[in-house]
Amino acid sequence: MSAADDNIELVNKILRLKEQRNAVILAHNYQRPEVQDIGDFVGDSLELSRKAAETDAEVIVFCGVHFMAETAAILSPGKTVLLPDEESGCPMADMVTADELIDKKRELQGANVVCYVNSSAAVKAESDICCTSANAVKVVQSVGAGTILFVPDQYLGLYVSTLVNRPMVLWPGFCPTHAKIQPGDITNLKGKYPGSIALVHPECRPEVTDVADEVLSTGGMLRFAGQTAAKVLIIATETGLLHRLKKENPGKTFLPAAPAALCPNMKKITLEKVLWALEDMKPVITVPEETRLRARLAVDKMLAV
Ligand code: 13P
Ligand code: SF4
Repeated sequence: MSAADDNIELVNKILRLKEQRNAVILAHNYQRPEVQDIGDFVGDSLELSRKAAETDAEVIVFCGVHFMAETAAILSPGKTVLLPDEESGCPMADMVTADELIDKKRELQGANVVCYVNSSAAVKAESDICCTSANAVKVVQSVGAGTILFVPDQYLGLYVSTLVNRPMVLWPGFCPTHAKIQPGDITNLKGKYPGSIALVHPECRPEVTDVADEVLSTGGMLRFAGQTAAKVLIIATETGLLHRLKKENPGKTFLPAAPAALCPNMKKITLEKVLWALEDMKPVITVPEETRLRARLAVDKMLAV
């Protein structure tokens, strides 16, 4: 039996069980191609939190990383949220803990905390408002006068701060996957492909966003790619996004800026693990109610922006 046949059998089992469990499968744009292909919805962090908040399904199978499943649990307390691999974390989210944030807030007395959605529920509970890479500019613009502490992504924070011309205190976190992308990766490809356009994720280092034609979330890159007249696009983000870009734009060429920009955690979810999660109804992601209620305030504020 070929690998493709194996997948067909697995996919059919998943689809049958999904119906029985009244489950919805949400998949992030960085997931493995075969996992994206079984998603009821595939999107960026903001789009996926919106879907998690809206769904009528009783079970959410979250194909992404831990903080994304936690955000779904924050927004949908009555639903069962399954993360097919509990070890699928985000090293950047782990770069700030609630206790460290509490200490910093004490030091900065009265600062507004804007927290990137790539953070734990406990950190969100200590924050005033959340943001994703798709809405960070709008969120920061919505914050009243006073000091802003931006956690945990220093590069997204610096990018937004420069764009809106407002200084912010930046937590020294970063994404190890996006940090692999170098400005030379883009400038070399631009030299080789005249007329190409470089789309860069704001988690990249400032010297990389500096050479971008557009700085966009993964969802923003997909929309841009669908609309632009350019035929060759350089993609500076995790390489999983290339699957949807190619599938949705067969007439265009997409070049990964750095093929090594691969998030090992995003790739931990496999079709087998999705099936096992539905069979065993675990691992379930929950958030303690007191934390959930406080974190929800920060997430709801973001969704209202
Ligand atoms: P997006 O919100 O752009 O999908 O990014 C999420 C993420 O984890 C980027 O590394
Ligand atoms: Fe976290 Fe980076 Fe992976 Fe996104 S790509 S989940 S920020 S480690």
